[in-house]
Amino acid sequence: MSVPSLEDLGDVSGRRVLLRADFNVPIANGEIVDDFRIRAALPTIDYLTSRGATVTACTHLGRPKGAPDPKYSVEPVRRRLAELAPGVELLDNLRFDPGETSNDPAFVQKLIEGQDLYVNDAFGASHRAHASIVGPPKFLPSAAGRLLQREVEVLLPLRSDPKRPFVVILGGSKVSDKLGVIDALSTVADALIIGGGMCFTFLAAQGHQVGDSLLEVDQIETCKRFLDADITIHIPHDVTGLGPGGEIMNPEAGGEVRQLGSDVPDGWKGLDIGPGTASEFADIIAEAKTIFWNGPMGVFEDPRFAAGTRVIAEAMAEARGFTVVGGGDSAAALDAFGLANEVDHVSTGGGASLELLENGDLPGLEALRGATNG
Ligand code: 3PG
Repeated sequence: MSVPSLEDLGDVSGRRVLLRADFNVPIANGEIVDDFRIRAALPTIDYLTSRGATVTACTHLGRPKGAPDPKYSVEPVRRRLAELAPGVELLDNLRFDPGETSNDPAFVQKLIEGQDLYVNDAFGASHRAHASIVGPPKFLPSAAGRLLQREVEVLLPLRSDPKRPFVVILGGSKVSDKLGVIDALSTVADALIIGGGMCFTFLAAQGHQVGDSLLEVDQIETCKRFLDADITIHIPHDVTGLGPGGEIMNPEAGGEVRQLGSDVPDGWKGLDIGPGTASEFADIIAEAKTIFWNGPMGVFEDPRFAAGTRVIAEAMAEARGFTVVGGGDSAAALDAFGLANEVDHVSTGGGASLELLENGDLPGLEALRGATNG
């Protein structure tokens, strides 16, 4: 699985390097809300610039439809990058060109024009077989940046050689998004913990009433199969619910908030794991030697339904075992609770970390292995 590293590029002095980064950061009112992904690329940028290379960075931002769109301008990123890494140029949003997502060879040529070397440090986008990820290694000596390398070093061993007990905590809204990773990790994990909106499909599979909670009817049979499989799966035995008339993120709308058991009455929505379940999950985390967490336990953005996710985040922070948090919402939750520095590894990739755990490889890594110097 080894991919060329920065050292494998040899002497980079005087060379022009195209750096594919994942600066897909949250932006509100033209300001960056969290620059974690930009800061995460600095070790690679420092490595290159301190050795005399000229770096041109490129990234996607959001999901524009293959044409320039001011809503997805990289200008705020460019300003922040100029502060953090003066002298590093940033190209326009890659997805302003339809050739990026369609992996158009002409767009690849445009990207590499005038460049001597290519570095991929965009872990969060390396599950996309897009032009800037898979194209340049066919033509330029290439390497993985420090961030990409570290992500692979941390995540891949979870598939093969975790210290035990290995506990996987999955949340978020949809079971269907997590099927692949459940399949891949259920053979290696000692226990799976299920929370978030997806737990209601598991509860339904056990015959519980789920009221108006999120439910993927077409996944009930799959959940039954997982529950019958040879792996310990913990699902909530109490949940925090919102009664009829209530609205998420809008306490003014009224609606009762109450602790429920594992059955949610008609007209009610389960929106967080309950306190009993949260304590039970925290105890399991405390005993584990390796813990991987992806997906919040409830709608943590609404303070009425944040408690479960907070308990899990705190348990991760206090755990003695090796703690890894998948990117996306669980990383945002950890950050919201001020605990981002308290775990061993926060992945910069949500979809990418799940896909790496699921498949053991990513298009971006495969491309680097096939590079002219790979
Ligand atoms: C992410 O935010 O997960 C990455 O930047 C990938 O973005 P995408 O899902 O739009 O490809």
